[in-house]
Amino acid sequence: MYLRYLRISQARSKSSKMAFTFFFRDQQTLELAVAHTLPLIVGRSRGRVWDAGCASGQEPYSLAILFAEKIGPFGFRNLRIDATDLDESGHFEELISQGCYSLAELERIPAELRQKYFELYDGGCMRVAGFVRERIRFRRHNLLSLEPIGEGFALIVCKNVLLHFNQQQRVDVLRMFHRALEPNGCLVMEQTQKLPPGMELLFTQLEPSAQLFARIASREGTTLAPPKQGPADLAVTSAGPAASGDAVRPPDGPAIGIDWQTKGLPGLVPLPDSRNCRVQPGTSEKL
Ligand SMILES: C[S@@+](CC[C@H](N)C(=O)[O-])C[C@H]1O[C@@H](n2cnc3c(N)ncnc32)[C@H](O)[C@@H]1O
Repeated sequence: MYLRYLRISQARSKSSKMAFTFFFRDQQTLELAVAHTLPLIVGRSRGRVWDAGCASGQEPYSLAILFAEKIGPFGFRNLRIDATDLDESGHFEELISQGCYSLAELERIPAELRQKYFELYDGGCMRVAGFVRERIRFRRHNLLSLEPIGEGFALIVCKNVLLHFNQQQRVDVLRMFHRALEPNGCLVMEQTQKLPPGMELLFTQLEPSAQLFARIASREGTTLAPPKQGPADLAVTSAGPAASGDAVRPPDGPAIGIDWQTKGLPGLVPLPDSRNCRVQPGTSEKL
């Protein structure tokens, strides 16, 4: 068992050189994203979340824990997080889905949450609890394929990934996310990632303090301009009345009746969020 952990840990540290990440990174933004997504998930038979560019898994596991804290055991069973990445190492699914992390990697997580969501594994590492791991499916996916992994997502998390793409690639990927989201679904990016010009026709910002957006549902008969056109040509072609159920959540909409605003998660120490990984193949922008 210990040898198995060593193998997992060595392979993971190789791949993590390419993908810097850590548990509860930009925790405040993740909490906001969870808060805004809850009404789209609670009371439904299935809530879908896509974590695009999940690196070595800390982000989707953090997200799952944040959801678990808010929706309780019954609702949590209906949540599914699809966590995707390029996974150049080829060990991604086997290794990351094991959910094993060293104690040092869990340092920032409050003891209370560590106890609740992690179990002691062999070889001195901790493992994400089974009921959390079950909610996450890891798979390889290249965002630049522009093929979404599914549709009807209540939330797409894509943090510290788009910065590796050029402007046109960002626009194309954001349009793909728009297609993959459910009508009022949410998209969240890192603090420094602004929407390219023209994209405000597709997404409306939900929080002034975060790059958190709601999808603007397309109007009846509307077709989006083809991907080749530049950002300035992103205009939605066709007027026509908004389809029923098209309501867009106002940016300053009513506060959601949960306690994230006042409570948050206790004891997490914020870290600067400026470090990033090196450029991946198939991308065109150097850091
Ligand atoms: C800095 S990490 C971000 C990890 C996590 N989202 C976070 O914010 O902590 C960037 C990740 O984007 C992934 N990535 C880069 N280009 C990609 C592409 N074309 N398709 C999918 N993932 C990509 C990398 O493999 C890497 O794991």
